[in-house]
Amino acid sequence: MEKTFLMVKPDGVERKLIGEIVTRFEKKGFQLVGAKLMTISRDLAENHYGEHKERPFFGELVDFITSGPVFAMVWEGENVISVARNMMGKTNPADAAPGTIRGDYATQMSNNIIHGSDSPESALREIGLFFSEEAELVSK
Ligand code: TYD
Ligand code: MG
Repeated sequence: MEKTFLMVKPDGVERKLIGEIVTRFEKKGFQLVGAKLMTISRDLAENHYGEHKERPFFGELVDFITSGPVFAMVWEGENVISVARNMMGKTNPADAAPGTIRGDYATQMSNNIIHGSDSPESALREIGLFFSEEAELVSK
């Protein structure tokens, strides 16, 4: 079964949206297989967002994602990678449809509440960066 890495960013944790976000994915029918509240080190942040390291917003992105605790999760289900991306909404909350997480709870690109893997390759890579498969993920 497909797995994805989702993370409530520091702004979402600060605004007490963890429960609301977990509820949306549970009600959709996906299975939570791993989760933890953690503060991301600079090294982990730079690695996680490595694809963006030449972009002008990289420094601010790393500052933001390390600025407070995040809620890191692994979810499992049919097509969970793309369905979760649709449930999150577009990267820029100004373009995200109402009913999506970013559409409902955010206004700014730099504070867009949630991260989700964008492909099977990123999902594998990001799950491996944040979780120990054997110790931290449950399997049915
Ligand atoms: P990206 O991977 O393109 O978006 P997504 O989170 O939807 O996969 O970008 C990673 C994060 O970087 C994005 O959530 C918010 C931030 N960002 C900016 O601050 N400015 C930008 O112009 C872009 C494209 C992203
Ligand atoms: Mg991305």
